[in-house]
Amino acid sequence: MPVITCIEDLRVLAERRVPRMFYDYADSGSWTESTYRANEADFRAFKLRQRVAVNMEGRTLRTTMAGQEVAMPVAIAPTGLTGMQHADGEILGARAAEKFGIPFTLSTMSICSIEDIAAHTQAPFWFQLYWMRDRDFMERLMDRAKAARCSALVLTLDLQVLGQRHKDIKNGMTAPPKPTLANILNLMTKPRWCLGMLGTRRHSFGNLVGHAKGVSDMSSLSAWTKEQFDPRLDWSDVEWIKKQWGGRLILKGVMDVEDARLAADSGADALVVSNHGGRQLDGAPSSIAALPEIADAVGSRIEVWMDGGIRSGQDVLKAVALGAKGTMIGRAFLYGLGAMGEAGVSKALELIRHELDITMAFTGHTDIRTVDRRILLPARA
Ligand code: GLV
Repeated sequence: MPVITCIEDLRVLAERRVPRMFYDYADSGSWTESTYRANEADFRAFKLRQRVAVNMEGRTLRTTMAGQEVAMPVAIAPTGLTGMQHADGEILGARAAEKFGIPFTLSTMSICSIEDIAAHTQAPFWFQLYWMRDRDFMERLMDRAKAARCSALVLTLDLQVLGQRHKDIKNGMTAPPKPTLANILNLMTKPRWCLGMLGTRRHSFGNLVGHAKGVSDMSSLSAWTKEQFDPRLDWSDVEWIKKQWGGRLILKGVMDVEDARLAADSGADALVVSNHGGRQLDGAPSSIAALPEIADAVGSRIEVWMDGGIRSGQDVLKAVALGAKGTMIGRAFLYGLGAMGEAGVSKALELIRHELDITMAFTGHTDIRTVDRRILLPARA
């Protein structure tokens, strides 16, 4: 068993253990993947200002995200098909998050259902919703999330149409995988994954099958998703969602200052500066590059969070310094899950916490809530 000291170690292990099509689904961006790469690379452009001879004892990373206490300013982002990275992946992720004391967000396109997560956790989790044509179905999803005690709704704003992901097309990505020769050969090299999958009944989209009209199996499901994602979403729809949901609302996928102003006007509790992990508009700037201007423009009116490219606690600290009250992790979570299930997610969170804590100390801070832009050095010309 390799010694795991960073998120990259978990990624390498996940790549070895997760079937190719699901690993690629998680770890790819759209078209040329330039935005996907920039998300990570742009973090490195920010240098940290080291301070010394400052009392660094008694440090705390505790803060709040949308009014909820968190052990560190990190929540697990909604990711589709998480239960295909590892058997029962969403349950394991939610459990690890609960033990750690951070929020877990369940995707509409999850394998485990809302009710599955509620049955296996005590802490309230968050639920992510796409804007869909079937409003009755959206209302029923929100009712189910309320019944499951979800404490926030994360509305995805940037998936009215789907960015083209070349690897998914080439791999013929479906859940569960089609029994083609290439898939069977690949699965034969993933015995742990197969064993896990044999031990669970959760192999398809748990929130949809048996709930959405006309969706009873995989082939009807793929037809349903193609016609259900609704390109007509606008800000009046956000208002409708806010009213229907009636609780904490988080708007995910804002990359532009004008949109950020509209998000603040909407009365939502938080917005997430996000380019969907570089999976939607390839050519958009990285999230960390878009963050400061948005935080400056609306940070006093709405909580500004960010996701995209976070692979360490240092990245979290830089995001906080640039105005993010919180962050979300997608791939860093999935690498841990694919590598080692629940223990891998816990490991990823521990690694991030340790890096965040030590780096904060080096910058001369003992409380994450006091960190600001002054911990960063101005970029050299
Ligand atoms: C879904 O939101 C995806 O990015 O695949």
